[in-house]
Amino acid sequence: MNTVMRTCVSAIALTFGLAVAAQAEDVEVLHWWTSGGEAAALNVLKSDLETQGIGWIDMPVAGGGGEAAMTTLRARVTAGDPPTAVQMLGFDIQDWAAEDALANLDAVATAEGWDAVVPAALQAFSKYDGNWIAAPVNVHSTNWVWASKAVLDQLGLAQPTTWDEFVAAMQAAQDAGFVGLAHGGQAWQEATMFDGVVLSTGGPDFYRQAFIDLDPAALGSDPMVEAFRRMETLRSFVDDNFSGRDWNLASAMVINDEAAFQIMGDWAKGEFLNAGEVPGTDFLCFRLPGSEGSVTFNADQFALFAVEGEAAQAAQAAMASAIMSPSFQSAFNVVKGSVPARTDVPPDAFDACGQQGMIDLAAASAGGTLLGSMAHGHANRAAVKNAIYDVVTAHFNGEYDAATAAQELVAAVEAAM
Ligand code: BGC
Repeated sequence: MNTVMRTCVSAIALTFGLAVAAQAEDVEVLHWWTSGGEAAALNVLKSDLETQGIGWIDMPVAGGGGEAAMTTLRARVTAGDPPTAVQMLGFDIQDWAAEDALANLDAVATAEGWDAVVPAALQAFSKYDGNWIAAPVNVHSTNWVWASKAVLDQLGLAQPTTWDEFVAAMQAAQDAGFVGLAHGGQAWQEATMFDGVVLSTGGPDFYRQAFIDLDPAALGSDPMVEAFRRMETLRSFVDDNFSGRDWNLASAMVINDEAAFQIMGDWAKGEFLNAGEVPGTDFLCFRLPGSEGSVTFNADQFALFAVEGEAAQAAQAAMASAIMSPSFQSAFNVVKGSVPARTDVPPDAFDACGQQGMIDLAAASAGGTLLGSMAHGHANRAAVKNAIYDVVTAHFNGEYDAATAAQELVAAVEAAM
């Protein structure tokens, strides 16, 4: 532990008891919550902190999955000017902790009993060397489909329950002049779909072998070739203007009943809610057919960069405490589309999709089918993740066929390890 971090640990320990009362400073927050639904959720956090006298300096860097935000973060840290709080995912948190860059949150975590209420799968990323170094704000998952109820009703289609039914429904929508699959052609969005497609094609053990264990035999296997073929099928249902489109604009195509489906993490629900839509009435949420029973998760966490000065540290401790309060976790996640990072938050305030998400998470956690999202930094480190992104997106854009893609995947992962 370096000197800055040691100073920080003791200062947070000393000041935490006074944190709420202290004249806390502003926190500068680097994040990638820039869509309408995300901004609405962010406001819940901002307002919560304001009631505690903590001001908010906004540092938004657009781009789902946080790649651009992480590039900006690296530049800020290199320049000796890290933001105080940073939205972060999975292995990125561990990497920053390994660089001794993060504040130790043990004082507040112990005082509030975080150990008992945060699931082990999240603690694996929130703790480093046994110390709390991030406060988890939510649990998202990527193997979801969002559907326009109006389009399905107009076509007389029920919610698809198998992959073949899903393909048939996209075909029927396309034949009727709708876009079968709303998609934004960005590498992270293709990778997000690939999470669910690999899970649905090969099952949870296969997903684990391929993306978490990085087993070359799984990465180059027949089920992986089949997963790439399924991506080709999905590619045939996107519209001509998909390239470069932001994910929330793809969600808007379903919201506006121009497209039948979108495969996207449950942050998409934030867009539907922000547009005044109601689950079951205006839109449907369901697991990608074939992936039911498993959850590919990613948890947004706030990592607090080690800073000097008692007021700054008090603000950080107060922010961590606010994020972890059960009432905040309910209020925030109801808007964000995610589910709470704490296991003791009542489901009452959540809509049907949120309640389903909570049930699925608990069942997957108990059944050993809770799997870190490859696309969102919870299966492997950034270098490997980016190598997989490159292959998935090149294949999606027609650079090579499914069999070649699987071979490329083996080679790219090996080179990145
Ligand atoms: C984050 C979500 C965010 C999404 C799209 C994901 O990586 O975990 O919180 O809404 O990207 O920006």
